[in-house]
Amino acid sequence: MAEPVNPRPHPQSLRIAIVGAGRLGQTLARALAAQGCQIVAVASRSMPAAQALAARLPACAALPIEEAAAAAELVFLTVPDDAIAATASALRWRPGQRVVHCSGATELAALAAAQERGALVGGFHPLQIFSDPERALALLPGSTVAIEAEGGLADELHALAALLGLQPLALRPGTRAAYHGAASFAASFLLSMLDEAALVWEAIGLPREQALRSLLPLARGTLDAAEAKGLAQALAGPISRGDLGVVARHLQAFDALGASHGQFYRELSRRQLVLASESQRLDAQTLARLEALLKSR
Ligand SMILES: NC(=O)c1ccc[n+]([C@@H]2O[C@H](COP(=O)([O-])OP(=O)(O)OC[C@H]3O[C@@H](n4cnc5c(N)ncnc54)[C@H](OP(=O)(O)O)[C@@H]3O)[C@@H](O)[C@H]2O)c1
Repeated sequence: MAEPVNPRPHPQSLRIAIVGAGRLGQTLARALAAQGCQIVAVASRSMPAAQALAARLPACAALPIEEAAAAAELVFLTVPDDAIAATASALRWRPGQRVVHCSGATELAALAAAQERGALVGGFHPLQIFSDPERALALLPGSTVAIEAEGGLADELHALAALLGLQPLALRPGTRAAYHGAASFAASFLLSMLDEAALVWEAIGLPREQALRSLLPLARGTLDAAEAKGLAQALAGPISRGDLGVVARHLQAFDALGASHGQFYRELSRRQLVLASESQRLDAQTLARLEALLKSR
């Protein structure tokens, strides 16, 4: 028999299971439990991982995957993306049961096997970095969560988001890879940017440890400015001023270090020209000269 979807969802009344006791599973379970949600069961590939998490949660059992899923009305599949479809296919779902993955890039089609058995399927992707649960728990309030689901399940996931202090963002089917790939520019690619700066500094004899110490305050200042003024108005540096001589010296220095450094700098600078143009601080002639300089070579 189909389980009724609560028309006015009270997330604390749902029996929830977490399948996959990794970085996100641990954080989500602990965050939900801290808000009074009932995490009735935890499962993972290895029983010790499930037991360690269950021990931190009130009235929660570490169970084999099949039993954990059967014990809950709402099951979060917090396994690696490549294991979502296989895990969903391997379990026996009841009509009306809710099955949700937490991936950004994987479409809900990965949960098709659960849907075919009458379960309601959804995506609940917290847009935050889960490197370890202590840090991630502190970062969750105020973060965005991308929600994709229909009807009653969408309402329940929105209620859970509100409980965790997450800001909901609706995703349309078929858009997840672009949504998630783009978010990398605000996450792991930021690290690649800092790494590029550290590599160049290292090449001129500045120690790598020094680079992070010196560059992080600069990065924070830039992010603060973006928050306060928006991207275009926060722009600083030679391109924003139309300082062609400095840009030319940067290009010379980077090209001398190797072709890939120069190419990377040129590509990012060309993208920055769009923001510089939006900021309306440069006249058309200066923008054209910068464009020509960045095309050279
Ligand atoms: N980490 C992030 O920053 C982040 C952010 C947003 C969304 N996500 C999403 O969250 C999901 C989980 O990512 P994660 O970073 O938490 O991964 P993770 O730390 O590697 O954890 C995955 C967990 O799933 C378990 N597992 C692996 N294969 C399994 C299977 N076949 N059946 C049952 N359990 C299995 C592993 O179990 P054992 O430990 O027992 O071996 C592991 O604990 C992914 O969909 C990811 O895209 C992650």
